[in-house]
Amino acid sequence: MSEIKLKSTFKVTIDNITIDVAPGTSILTAARQIGGDVTPPAMCYYSKLEGSGGKCRTCLVEVSKGSEKDPRPMPKLVASCRTGVMDGMEVKNITSDKVKDARAGVVEFLLLNHPLDCPICDQAGECHLQDLGYSHGKEGTRYEFKRRTFEKEDIGPYIQLHMTRCILCYRCTYVADQLTDTRVHGILDRGDHAEISTYISKAIDNDFSGNMIDVCPVGALTDKTFRFKNRVWFTKPVDANRNCENPKCCGKATLWLRGADVYRVTARKDEWGEVQSYDGKQGWICNICRFDKKKTSDWVIEGPTTISRHSVISQGHYEGMVMPTETIQKVMGGREPKLLMDIHDESGVNLSKK
Ligand code: SF4
Ligand code: FES
Repeated sequence: MSEIKLKSTFKVTIDNITIDVAPGTSILTAARQIGGDVTPPAMCYYSKLEGSGGKCRTCLVEVSKGSEKDPRPMPKLVASCRTGVMDGMEVKNITSDKVKDARAGVVEFLLLNHPLDCPICDQAGECHLQDLGYSHGKEGTRYEFKRRTFEKEDIGPYIQLHMTRCILCYRCTYVADQLTDTRVHGILDRGDHAEISTYISKAIDNDFSGNMIDVCPVGALTDKTFRFKNRVWFTKPVDANRNCENPKCCGKATLWLRGADVYRVTARKDEWGEVQSYDGKQGWICNICRFDKKKTSDWVIEGPTTISRHSVISQGHYEGMVMPTETIQKVMGGREPKLLMDIHDESGVNLSKK
């Protein structure tokens, strides 16, 4: 009997960059391996949550060549988080006008019901929908109807649900399913009536429920101990750890400080906004670390958290900043730039200058 030899890696080209990936890798994961702008945004997929993805369509890409064996393009844009790569596949993300157009449409849909309350929302500054709106959205909306609204709901002692902001990504239900013993909340009803709610108003008070706040891409689930206490960009994030007794808790967290006060404790996030992994173990934290350890003395501080230069949170934190090269002297043949008008000379306000 002849033996079928399976390929150990597949070649995939995304936005003209070719890499080898393991068979079974999704287009989104392959793009994340390349990194940067080539990576499609993802509002519902979360690599640490099994079954997530396929709900929001923000990760749509164009497959311009199916595979080496069957080079026909795929007839429609596909969700990159749910489509596996094939050997020889060619994918377009930022190089496709169709994708850019479709993504702007998806943002418009996501914002049909989502309020534009960023100035008072606790998630502002770390909201994936806010970032998506800036990078892929349009200036205006064509929607003329009333947005649907809900009363705020306390779900458990630590979490507040603001259903009006929910984009139905399902991430929080996966956290409840996969990290806690019993899931007591879910998405009720369908279509325009769909909403996150607890089953007969049961409170969510299990050990790992706080992780739902971390996975929520918008401000629908917020930390009641931090709500309205501070804007996230005024706080200083530091990496810290403690010897947590809970075996499921990784004990590594980010403390959000103002002076010596710990305003908030969250899991540490990676460049995709997901919890980090440590030696193959996922970095979820328990509610004791998150809500009860609010003193710096409870933690061993490791140092400042690395925050992306593009994030508003990095404003005011200058660690590791690379200064751009000064070009003005170069283009002026080594001469110092000369001011057209020196305000000190003209106004005489700063006399010590003379
Ligand atoms: S509450 Fe947040 S995490 Fe849960 S479905 Fe809505 S947007 Fe997603
Ligand atoms: S991230 Fe792929 S559909 Fe939401």
